[in-house]
Amino acid sequence: MDQNIRVGFAGFGHMAQVLCEVIIQGKVCPQSEILFCRRDPSQMKENEQRFGITGSSLQTLVSKSDVILFCMRPQQVQQFMGELKKIQGLEGKWFISILAGIKISYFHAHLGTHAQIIRAMPNIASSVLEGMTILTHSPACSRDFRSFVNIFFGSMGEIAELPESMMDTASAMAASGPGFVVRLIEAEARVGVKHGIPYEQALKIAAQAFAGASRLILKGERPMNLLNSIATPNGVTHAGLDVMNKLELDAHFQAVFEAAALRASDLSS
Ligand SMILES: NC(=O)c1ccc[n+]([C@@H]2O[C@H](COP(=O)([O-])OP(=O)(O)OC[C@H]3O[C@@H](n4cnc5c(N)ncnc54)[C@H](OP(=O)(O)O)[C@@H]3O)[C@@H](O)[C@H]2O)c1
Repeated sequence: MDQNIRVGFAGFGHMAQVLCEVIIQGKVCPQSEILFCRRDPSQMKENEQRFGITGSSLQTLVSKSDVILFCMRPQQVQQFMGELKKIQGLEGKWFISILAGIKISYFHAHLGTHAQIIRAMPNIASSVLEGMTILTHSPACSRDFRSFVNIFFGSMGEIAELPESMMDTASAMAASGPGFVVRLIEAEARVGVKHGIPYEQALKIAAQAFAGASRLILKGERPMNLLNSIATPNGVTHAGLDVMNKLELDAHFQAVFEAAALRASDLSS
């Protein structure tokens, strides 16, 4: 990694803070090369102290950064773009957007079609280096920029490059997915609690069931082969799978992701 690449976070909320913490700990960028801007001055001071990085105006951030990460909410981007348009020195900068739903064409409309912009959809598990980041890039992006982005997000977990047409679906799976899985873990834990298992132990048992199953699949096991090994006919797991079938749980779970993907596509229209 080129230690001289200077990173500027435009917006410094939950997700930007996760990314910042990981790149500092992973020594992807030295703290002295990281800037951020946000609107709330008291939060800015608190963030400066906590992360040991410098808060600045948007103009200073643009002047002093090689790569600028857009980290505001999708609903806030229009106002931000209005402010960015007035800033000098945007030419040649690298831009990364982590905003759900906002298309590259939106940024090109504001920054020009030659602007180098990569959309990245990281997730909260990046904070424990188990992230899954979906990437899609504009044609103008240089090889150096793309390899920087691969190293940046690769330092916090897995990355997958996909065409932009698949971004909304992949974002629902990768970025919202942990939220849906957390709900399922909590639901499993509550069954244990109902039958007398202390909550902390029940939560651990449920979370480790998800983690272990995931690890097996990530090591290359096929889901159907695993199911055959776990569920013997008329056995314990089989009884549960029968209920899953009756409830059409797979289809219902898929509907959850479809709704999230639809919301991501709404945000861009
Ligand atoms: N949370 C996740 O798991 C996740 C995962 C993947 C992607 N994302 C994406 O990450 C983005 C941020 O989400 P979040 O949860 O981190 O939101 P958040 O906590 O609300 O943070 C938004 C940040 O943007 C700043 N901001 C807004 N307008 C600004 C402006 N005009 N100039 C400068 N800063 C501005 C806010 O600053 P002030 O508070 O000071 O106004 C705040 O620091 C979203 O677009 C989301 O799609 C989130």
